[in-house]
Amino acid sequence: MVGLARPPRLRCRVLEPACANAPFLQAFTEAYGNHHKLVGVEIDPQRLSDARKCLPRATFIEGDFLLWQPETRFDIILGNPPYGIIGDASHYPIHALRARKSLYRQNSRTWRGKFNIYGAFIEHATRLLAPDGVLVFVVPASWLALDDFKLLRAYLAAQGRLSVYYLGKAFPKRNVSVVVLRLQKGAQGLALYDGTDHLALERAAYAGEMIRFETDELLQMERQGVPLGELFDIRFAARSPEVRRHPAVRREPADGYVPVLTGRNLHAGWIDYDTCYSGLWMAHERAAELRAFYGTPHLVVAHTKGARVVCAYDARCYPWREEFHLIPRAEGVNAEAVMAYLNSPLVQRYVQTLYRDLTPHLTRAMLARVPLPLSGCSPRT
Ligand SMILES: C[S@@+](CC[C@H](N)C(=O)[O-])C[C@H]1O[C@@H](n2cnc3c(N)ncnc32)[C@H](O)[C@@H]1O
Repeated sequence: MVGLARPPRLRCRVLEPACANAPFLQAFTEAYGNHHKLVGVEIDPQRLSDARKCLPRATFIEGDFLLWQPETRFDIILGNPPYGIIGDASHYPIHALRARKSLYRQNSRTWRGKFNIYGAFIEHATRLLAPDGVLVFVVPASWLALDDFKLLRAYLAAQGRLSVYYLGKAFPKRNVSVVVLRLQKGAQGLALYDGTDHLALERAAYAGEMIRFETDELLQMERQGVPLGELFDIRFAARSPEVRRHPAVRREPADGYVPVLTGRNLHAGWIDYDTCYSGLWMAHERAAELRAFYGTPHLVVAHTKGARVVCAYDARCYPWREEFHLIPRAEGVNAEAVMAYLNSPLVQRYVQTLYRDLTPHLTRAMLARVPLPLSGCSPRT
């Protein structure tokens, strides 16, 4: 990362946000000398005392980086921002800053959905760059593919040239796939590297689309097929709190009640209707009160099994608490053929090659783009 942040002039202004003991500023000084103007921002004063000892000539600011509005702009910004969704302690890792979330949102142009604190760091850092400045951050890979980062991708694309280095699970003990992001402000285009130097994809123009490991073969598949999302409306299952609150749902089995199904009941080509993993049972004939489409036999696709497509046909119209539900947009779709195709090795390879482990789950947008062959599956044939 320090190598990607080579100083463009003799004396640069260099910033490390959320610097803790400022490891990046230290490495930068070792590589390029101690004549640059170094600034670190850190919210926790205890972490700053180490930083001050190591770099006595640098300026350290105690404060919240996301609310920090300096007068000057920086030639180089580098570091490892915090990661995590901001929310309450029972569900989300970043709860100390929960009270500030609405302020962060107000200050951000790209915040969308649950977002993630690292997205807000990327946007704010980009705003603090000089017109030809460079940002180098190591962050989770999820922004390449998730819809919540659509605005951030478009913003970055408009600001400069993006180079993205995919490193996979580079941090021992942390189950997160990461990338190094380098933004050269004022330039254009996109380059995706697999590791530190293998160029996997290059675009002279980039407007914020999902960043995927595209190959000619997979793009050809997409050109020749019909996207799944064109043939099916892809809906989410009813959420847990809604299921639990429903008057026809109970916590033990009873006559006429069936298990509320979860991802664990779903297998490629078949559904285990007997085991209750949710701990909830529901009056079978009232399942459609949760979602109207539960009342009609339909295809179910896993959301929770990583970058794998697992599909089965729910012929018995059970209630569900998880997964995607495929509702045909027109008559004549051959559900059996679609199921077999989605479970095929070809589709697994398509999904795993394009998206690897960028996100922990298969997303609706990924599923909607899976191309179905024109023969067999589609009513258009
Ligand atoms: C180097 S960063 C993140 C490292 C790693 N990516 C993670 O998520 O655990 C950790 C440092 O960020 C600081 N920090 C967290 N939120 C901050 C904020 N809003 N402004 C400034 N510093 C912050 C913490 O106090 C901590 O010292």
